[in-house]
Amino acid sequence: MNNAASILFIDDEPGSREGLTLLLEREGYQVEAVAAGEEALSLLSIKSYDVIITDLFLPGVSGIDILKHVKEHSLPCNVILITGNASAETAVKAMKEGAFDYITKPVNFDKLKVLIAKAIEKSRLVAENLYLRQQLRGKYKFDNIIGNSPAIQPVFARMEKILVTDSTVLILGESGTGKELVARAIHYNGLRKEKPFIAINCGAIPAELLESELFGHMRGSFTGAVADKPGKFELANKGTIFLDEIGTMPLQLQMKLLRVLQEQEVERVGSTRRTKLDVRVISATHANLEEMVHSDNFREDLYYRLNVIPIQLPPLRERREDIPLLTRHFLRKICTDMRRPMMEITPEAVRALETYKWPGNVREMENVIERTIALTDNDIIDIQDLPSQIGGISQEGGLLPTLQIPEEGLDLAEAIAHIEQALIKQAMDKSSNIKARAASLLKINRTTLVEKIKRYDM
Ligand SMILES: Nc1ncnc2c1ncn2[C@@H]1O[C@H](COP(=O)(O)OP(=O)(O)OP(=O)(O)O)[C@@H](O)[C@H]1O
Ligand SMILES: [Mg+2]
Repeated sequence: MNNAASILFIDDEPGSREGLTLLLEREGYQVEAVAAGEEALSLLSIKSYDVIITDLFLPGVSGIDILKHVKEHSLPCNVILITGNASAETAVKAMKEGAFDYITKPVNFDKLKVLIAKAIEKSRLVAENLYLRQQLRGKYKFDNIIGNSPAIQPVFARMEKILVTDSTVLILGESGTGKELVARAIHYNGLRKEKPFIAINCGAIPAELLESELFGHMRGSFTGAVADKPGKFELANKGTIFLDEIGTMPLQLQMKLLRVLQEQEVERVGSTRRTKLDVRVISATHANLEEMVHSDNFREDLYYRLNVIPIQLPPLRERREDIPLLTRHFLRKICTDMRRPMMEITPEAVRALETYKWPGNVREMENVIERTIALTDNDIIDIQDLPSQIGGISQEGGLLPTLQIPEEGLDLAEAIAHIEQALIKQAMDKSSNIKARAASLLKINRTTLVEKIKRYDM
């Protein structure tokens, strides 16, 4: 009946593992059988199954641990436990942890078949619900914001609540956590989506220019003001202005910004004419504004005006459950961008990504995956393809693996040629294929570089 239904089966005893696998496959199920709980967990990080059947007692990661993992990560599959003895205690514990059911040894296959069929039906229903919920979320187009973890859920919940409002939003979070992504999603799914979204990075503009960037200026109002120019606020009229890195704004300008927000009117530098504004304000910062208020580096009144609806983005290390999802998302996105076939990644590599600290959060992760895809020669990303800080042994250009002398020895000239090619390739990549620039990076003559490229047929 359910030909495509997939089962993950965990049993440390080879005999019963092979026997049951055979029986299940004969029933038309797609079965993956492993001996250890650890192996099961890494499979679960990259694949999904309809049903998991696991022995309760396993050396190391136990059946209950696997069950807990499934529940913690809200995986849409049901777990059937096999217990050695019919001890009521363990059975109760299993059911309490959310097992679909349990079956005692020796396993009665007919009984197991019935359980599996029921479990599949339930898993499918849950998966369908999840799909429907995501469809709904897709309507709000948050589907480019990847995440399913308990830590990110409040973010989605709050975003959905404010979509049909014009509330002022303050997005807080470490660098690379997705603040701009969230700001754009709020705008493009809200009431003002047809109107402009104007972003300005307050930290990237010299303080003396920021005022005129924000509010505009009149010709001749300062040296270099050769023409009248509207500010970002005027450009954002009827739409949304995104004030990024608001914490860097000089105090004196904070006062002017406060006035604009209070009076909903803007005055260009050098002008006395006021323009009425209807602008939604979303601001963001990785700084601790509250602390800045305490130390008098941020105006308290402005802080309260901006912080009507706060959205706190969790750092990636606090939502590690999302790392497998994000990995797949970036693999797909980057491979598509690079117009190459979708790459696979081994469970060990995913686990390394899951355990790394990610000080640069999602942005760092995106960069790491992009670099890894660009530099590896394998079809499947493995742990050694990752940067060394994440547990890989390769550095840019995959130099180190070449530097390790294999058991059987190596041809020195060939190995050096290999390294030379890798470095040339890297230099060319870094210089956007401009040979003069690549040559100067390698501190060689352009002609020498051209010769080498020809020799290596690169
Ligand atoms: N949940 C997410 N799902 C998918 N992509 C994400 C997610 N969060 C962040 N990104 C991606 O990570 C990168 C960084 O995100 P973004 O620029 O929004 O972060 P930020 O918090 O504004 O960072 P910074 O403080 O460095 O400006 C972007 O390419 C963004 O698309
Ligand atoms: Mg940003």
